[in-house]
Amino acid sequence: MPERAIGIFDSGVGGLTVLRELRRQLPHEELVYLGDTARVPYGTKSPQTVGRYAREAARFLVGQRVKLLVVACNTASAVALDDLAAIHRLPVVGVIEPGARRALEVTRSGRIGVIGTEGTIRSRAYERALHAGNPDVDVCVAACPLFVPLAEEGWAGHAIARLAAVEYLEPLLQRGIDTLVLGCTHYPLLKPILQEVVGPGVKLIDSAEETAKTVAGLLAAHGLERRGGEPRPPRYFVTDVAERFERVGGAFLGAPLAGVTTVTLD
Ligand code: DGL
Repeated sequence: MPERAIGIFDSGVGGLTVLRELRRQLPHEELVYLGDTARVPYGTKSPQTVGRYAREAARFLVGQRVKLLVVACNTASAVALDDLAAIHRLPVVGVIEPGARRALEVTRSGRIGVIGTEGTIRSRAYERALHAGNPDVDVCVAACPLFVPLAEEGWAGHAIARLAAVEYLEPLLQRGIDTLVLGCTHYPLLKPILQEVVGPGVKLIDSAEETAKTVAGLLAAHGLERRGGEPRPPRYFVTDVAERFERVGGAFLGAPLAGVTTVTLD
């Protein structure tokens, strides 16, 4: 089992921010990534549809004989995590619980902001995760749908991204948050602008980093760590043509991306 890969899926390129963190924290692990690029975005779709897509993506990765599954998409984690954990007999890790746990560790005022896609915010999954850890925290949420296309356009540092951030974050700042959870795979790319807009008094929580830490802990707890041997390059699969994924994904990964295989999930 330890020699098997970790399976990671997202609606598209966004989950590469999680893969990047996994590579950094767990360099010996082999990673298999699936981006459901034919059906992205998940963030605007119904829970029923996202649930079906997530089941199909998970089934594909389990077919690749992975030892652990990472749902590297906030929207899919919000609506499908329990379902996937019930279907598959392997550890399934989402991105919401790790980010929520870290936010609870960091907050001093107990006022926590969460930003994400419409689907994630509508699901109230972050409120549930935060209140499960501490029922007294005040959670203030905002959907920021423009951030995904801005990040994919390579405009994460652009003045338009700044304007959008000011607009979206104003109500959260009014509430006096001291912690902001980046509840979407794309948002780590906007970190510099978001930090500038919220100011130094607000701590940003990057779900990708926290999720990689959770995966490391679970592998250790289950005796599933690959401890040595030759490093293996990640394997990438997508459900549409590879070209856009390779081009846009490079920015998410912070390195050139090649060798992507197109698959169908049915
Ligand atoms: N990966 C999605 C998430 O983290 C963002 C992109 C999408 O809407 O599919 O929620």
